Amino acid sequence: MTFPVFKLEEYFTHYEFSAPYLLCCSDAQTLSVSELVALADDECRDKWERLSLGYTEVSGSPSLRQDIAARYHGLRAENIVCFAGAEEGIFTVFSSLLRKGDHVIVITPCYQSLRDIPRTLGCDVTSIDLLEEEKWQVDVVKIKHHLRDNTRLVIINTPHNPTGQMMDQESLKTLINMLRTHGTYLFSDEVYFHLGPSDTQWSSQVAEMYERGISLNVMSKAYGLAGLRIGWIATQDKEILQKCVYFKHYTTICNAAPSEILAQIALRAHKTILQRNNHIIDKNLELFEAFLEKYKNLFSWIKPKGSCTGFVHYYGHESVDDFAKRLVQKNGVLLLPGSIYDAGDRYFRVGFGRKNFSDGLSRLENFLAEGGR
Ligand SMILES: Cc1ncc(COP(=O)(O)O)c(C=O)c1O
Repeated sequence: MTFPVFKLEEYFTHYEFSAPYLLCCSDAQTLSVSELVALADDECRDKWERLSLGYTEVSGSPSLRQDIAARYHGLRAENIVCFAGAEEGIFTVFSSLLRKGDHVIVITPCYQSLRDIPRTLGCDVTSIDLLEEEKWQVDVVKIKHHLRDNTRLVIINTPHNPTGQMMDQESLKTLINMLRTHGTYLFSDEVYFHLGPSDTQWSSQVAEMYERGISLNVMSKAYGLAGLRIGWIATQDKEILQKCVYFKHYTTICNAAPSEILAQIALRAHKTILQRNNHIIDKNLELFEAFLEKYKNLFSWIKPKGSCTGFVHYYGHESVDDFAKRLVQKNGVLLLPGSIYDAGDRYFRVGFGRKNFSDGLSRLENFLAEGGR
């Protein structure tokens, strides 16, 4: 198997630790270990202080899985398997579920591995493009049109990276009813779940709704704890869970013991952490909407409904790639061009989950004022 270069990871390798103003991050504001441990309940603080550093259980510790399951209606610890981040979850599920020649439908633009792992495994992959003129909404009728007898898997991402749009409960129900009649699995990348404007109305998660549904989530995005590398899948399908555990024996075997406890602390403090992160988003969205109003001849977007990213249309005379390159070189502000998603040269991703968003935005304004448009 030869995987194509992961464009987004390659781009970030180049700039993430050198550009001073990251205006395109897809995760919420992080916490230091001491800030996080200060939120621990007595049980977790005790576990943290007495932690020994041996191997942990392959699926994830039962108490961590129980705390994760508590974030889903009707699921229990045995419905969860943990991974090193969401990325290992994607790789493991697809490798366990898919065979060469299987038909797979994926909504694009998307986080590259959602499309390119099935492709690399030799699957026949149909991409369905989201369109700005359809407000970046998933059209269930288009999925129906592409479904075949051998469609093994449909892959969605809601809230969606990069557009921040979400599927509502009704569309999810319609999609699931359609897939049920075909026996098709539904992989729902929900890594931005519970992250977004404070007044967001959240739908159900796919693992709660569908017996062949697999929900993917992680501590990286809503909790801002990417450094823990704790992700998971949730599903009612015990056979898939078992297959994933067998596969994990060949990848990371188990999670890092300190990360498991720190993830539990965060999950138990979910109200405090999510409220903090979603307030940062409220504030940054307000700033960015004012910015867009001021520069409406140059930029527009379909306002994101969830997550901390949005896809901005750029109307300047050059390509977004050239614009972004000049911006980072001159003013140190990083945007993520749509070409990273194979989505042409008119869009860029903006990320508004971080506290220092306004600093990056001011630098972008300076760049425009200095004639950088
Ligand atoms: C939609 C989506 N899925 C999965 C991932 C991978 O998450 P992690 O880095 O926590 O493994 C990302 C990261 O950006 C993402 O945006």
